[in-house]
Amino acid sequence: MTVSQTNFAWATLLEVGGRGRLHDRLAHALRAAIRDGRLAEGAAVPPSRALAEDLGCSRWVVTEAYGQLVAEGYLTARVGSATRVSWSPVTADRPRAQRAPARPAIRYDLAPGLPDLRAFPRRRWADAVRAVIGSAVQYDLDIPDPAGHAALRTTLAEYLRRSRGADADATSVSVCAGVTDGLARTCRALHAEGITDVAVEHPGWPRLRAAVTSAGLRAHPVPVDQDGLRVDDLVRTPARAVVVGAAHQFPTGTVLSPARRARLVRWAREVDGFVIEDDYDAEFRYDHHPVAVMQGLDPGRVFLLGTVSKTLSPALGLGWLVAPPVMIPALRTANPVAAAPPVLDQLALSTFIDRGWYDAHLRAARRRFRARRDLLLDTLAAEVPEGRPAGTAAGLHVLLHLPDDTDTRRTVQAAASAGLRLADLDDYRTEQSPGRALVLGYGNIGDTEIPAAVALLREALRSTALAAPRTRRPDQPRRSASSSSS
Ligand SMILES: Cc1ncc(COP(=O)(O)O)c(C=O)c1O
Repeated sequence: MTVSQTNFAWATLLEVGGRGRLHDRLAHALRAAIRDGRLAEGAAVPPSRALAEDLGCSRWVVTEAYGQLVAEGYLTARVGSATRVSWSPVTADRPRAQRAPARPAIRYDLAPGLPDLRAFPRRRWADAVRAVIGSAVQYDLDIPDPAGHAALRTTLAEYLRRSRGADADATSVSVCAGVTDGLARTCRALHAEGITDVAVEHPGWPRLRAAVTSAGLRAHPVPVDQDGLRVDDLVRTPARAVVVGAAHQFPTGTVLSPARRARLVRWAREVDGFVIEDDYDAEFRYDHHPVAVMQGLDPGRVFLLGTVSKTLSPALGLGWLVAPPVMIPALRTANPVAAAPPVLDQLALSTFIDRGWYDAHLRAARRRFRARRDLLLDTLAAEVPEGRPAGTAAGLHVLLHLPDDTDTRRTVQAAASAGLRLADLDDYRTEQSPGRALVLGYGNIGDTEIPAAVALLREALRSTALAAPRTRRPDQPRRSASSSSS
């Protein structure tokens, strides 16, 4: 960090020295200045751009540090006004009821579920918002259509036809807040049409199951194998609809095989039911061209759900739902109070896609994620050789199978206390199942952080293995993280 004459005051105040990541060091320096009273309660901190200039670092470093201190309750940020110190050593023991609970200190994030938040296209998104604010006509500012603004529906239909092989037009597409919201709307419509039982993948993302049950439907877990959802097991349930991640199932990472796709569509016709396709992670396929959506096989039987949560940011809360024509009226009547996301955000997304910025962003993200995936796999092979990665061809996470005697739950806890966030496959299971594995997301971690993160993972596996005497079958050779990873 360079220090010039003009930034002398802040540089002296903050003393951003030491080792570690710059934004952590800056957060540490700010926290120290607040805690010892050098920055008083109510004082405004400089705008992130100005402080970044003063300190000679990127603006991202400052926004990350501010964000961390907002989460911890030291700073308060309000749109349109300065970020201010909201903590004082004098009044520190008064109740902190209004403060948001601090997030645990995470140094490295290998938890699945996030794209690269550092690479959010801030400038172009801001350009899109500015263009929309400048050009919105009165009609745009009128009471919103609950199915979404016509401009975004048209843009999405064209995008989904062109890039996902979907059968969509502006009438079949509606805008929603993401896959979870789209699924809840779909389930309410199915319920209104007399469908009471819906199959979900096992293992699977718990929020999808919650969306099904919150609409008053019964959820039936159906196992997933290396070809995706097991249709043989599906036919034995009373379900007339199924939620399926065809492009990259979460968390197993399997791609639904062509034969299973065809069978699923046949099943939907036979039971007079529907397939609900969660097009999760579909934009990121590394070893082949993206696989087209199943929805194109039978648009009368397949709902298609998509989101920008994995491509831009979940904070935008923007997604889409393509419905079979026969279900469009039920979608409206069964969701009488559902609103589409804010219209100006919808128009910003429409502009962002129309100007080619979404495609450009995805191309760059794909290149970055492929390289990061390769780096993660190489590092895992060297440091955690007892692990067997799977589901690596697409998406933003890998499944790391581990020996049966690994205590994955305690490994996740040990990693968390060392500052590494990751997930246990068991978190996505609703019943006891054989096979131990961790789910490692590589969307929201810097390339340079991967070696240190994997070293912490190796240590967590080692400490857990040493702490617990393992049980093993007599015929099974003892394999432990400690013996094979050094
Ligand atoms: C399987 C699956 N589908 C979809 C999503 C995206 O959901 P939403 O669009 O509601 O953010 C996620 C997010 O983690 C997910 O795990």
